[in-house]
Amino acid sequence: MCGIVGYLGFRKAYPIVINGLQRLEYRGYDSAGVILTDGNQVNLYKTKGKVSDLKEVVSENSIEGNLGLGHTRWATHGIPNDENSHPHVSNSGKLVIVHNGIIENYNTLKKELIARDYTFKSDTDTEVLINLIEEVQKRNNCNLEKAVQLALTNAVGAYAIAVFDVSKPEEIIVARLGSPIAIGIGANNEEFFVASDASPFIEYTKDAVYLDDEELAIIKIGEDIRVRKIQDNSEVEPNIQELKLNLEQIEKGGYDHFMLKEIHEQPNAILDTYRGRLLANQGIIKMGSVDNNIAKFLNANRIIIVACGTSWHAGLVAEYLFEDLARIPVEVEYASEFRYRNPVINKGDVVIAISQSGETADTLAAIKLAKSQGAFVFGVCNVVGSSIARETDTGAYTHAGPEIGVASTKAFTTQITVLALIALKLGNLKGELSNSQYHAYIQEMSLIPSKVEETLKINDIVENIAAIYKDAPNCLYLGRGYNFPVALEGALKLKEISYIHAEGYPAAEMKHGPIALIDESMPVVVIATKKGHYDKVVSNIQEIKSRKGKIIAVVTKGDTIVKDIADHTIEVPETVEAFTPLLTTIPLQLLSYHIAVMRNCNVDQPRNLAKSVTVE
Ligand code: G6P
Repeated sequence: MCGIVGYLGFRKAYPIVINGLQRLEYRGYDSAGVILTDGNQVNLYKTKGKVSDLKEVVSENSIEGNLGLGHTRWATHGIPNDENSHPHVSNSGKLVIVHNGIIENYNTLKKELIARDYTFKSDTDTEVLINLIEEVQKRNNCNLEKAVQLALTNAVGAYAIAVFDVSKPEEIIVARLGSPIAIGIGANNEEFFVASDASPFIEYTKDAVYLDDEELAIIKIGEDIRVRKIQDNSEVEPNIQELKLNLEQIEKGGYDHFMLKEIHEQPNAILDTYRGRLLANQGIIKMGSVDNNIAKFLNANRIIIVACGTSWHAGLVAEYLFEDLARIPVEVEYASEFRYRNPVINKGDVVIAISQSGETADTLAAIKLAKSQGAFVFGVCNVVGSSIARETDTGAYTHAGPEIGVASTKAFTTQITVLALIALKLGNLKGELSNSQYHAYIQEMSLIPSKVEETLKINDIVENIAAIYKDAPNCLYLGRGYNFPVALEGALKLKEISYIHAEGYPAAEMKHGPIALIDESMPVVVIATKKGHYDKVVSNIQEIKSRKGKIIAVVTKGDTIVKDIADHTIEVPETVEAFTPLLTTIPLQLLSYHIAVMRNCNVDQPRNLAKSVTVE
């Protein structure tokens, strides 16, 4: 959570920092701030609210300075208000910090500092950290680089920080433990950029260093970037990478919202996910990271999947895929529960961690736990070079491109795609899928992008349905088998962006409780595709109908039976049962999107949420 942007160079810092903050707002958006200096005057602006509010605060004031730090916040310690917004300044007024993460021992440190006459304006852990750095510098009479390094050895928790001294406006110190930070390097070291991800600086440079955990970087105009280990101050050779990201990928491209753009990107995103892996002509699936560890997968006693949020739902779909196609037992765990409940992990277990951002703190901790107990950990991430991608033994990227809308869409379908490829490959190698079955699945997967494209054409029908139910206070989502996780995901989408209470249930479980809620005002979304327990779902639909519930059914193209009973039907093309989630998800994404728009909700930045959850 929280986004950090910094600039040091020959340009005006403010436009770069403020635009960068807007690109990072997906990380948190309850308050924002910026500090600028030209070496003489220092201007600090902070406000509760979004980056657009900050822009207004700044509008009439000075934006001079070639050094700037900015922050967009998702509150952890202290409510979102002006004082708790970052940047924070030390008691002397000399040192400035922006921080993403949590300093867990901030209370102890704060008491020690108060005993030394430090005072605090905010309730934040960050203000404690900057004063700790100041105190360490005073006590050791050292430079800022050393003071930050020493102070961080006393800090417990997670952080990505950028710090500077207003009297030395040619240097920024950056450090990381658990929260991501990228440093962009301009030509001839004449300018530098600091950001939580590379999006704020892609139009300026393609050269970037991603700090690893426990690393500190010293950025000085005209000098090569230096990187050190925080624990022992040893030097590390900076790994300068070439960024693949381009500007178009992080802009709305004519769509009203990122979420809508990302929904519509799914045909291409799925294609990008299997490109080079699904070789339909040869009838094979090639995945280096699976091929290189094939014995581990084939000998696995079980697969444990750890993830959070939408990624956890993709994990549930994968449970069906691995058990059905490859006959490997699977357990799907919320990473946050797994890590704290002393789980039984055996040496032969394969753990798959799924994460769009690759930064989710609970998933990261679950991976570390599994690794420490000897499991082989495979990552399915979208963000290249992310913490989870680096922490796992190996893995497969989803290649969905940047997902900016907080509600996850294309990440979900591409995660399912990667997991389906693995399950098919293992199923064939284990002899559970004959070659002809395997080839048939491969052929069908190659048709999925065009079938998603076709599914997207139902947009107008879904929009009309949305108009009817936009004011419903509750909504139920039902599905069976492969489409039970889709029901959960549909309900999550509606909850998170339109603030309508929604619940997903396995259709048959409805009679064990939720049926009591059904009356003529209750919309019930039922996934009733032809393959997979169709007759049973039809019976469930009848049960809803008998209680006057309003039925919105997602059906296979050409369906007539459900059409006769349901109030509304949304057709998706026919496919094999295992791939139905890739299609049935689409109308549910669109339904939540349109309802949220009609309710005037902030679709891309729903209240209280953030896209990258780097706190437990
Ligand atoms: C947050 C996001 C969700 C996401 C979840 C897990 O809650 O708002 O969209 O599914 O985190 O994130 P991850 O990046 O690990 O997939």
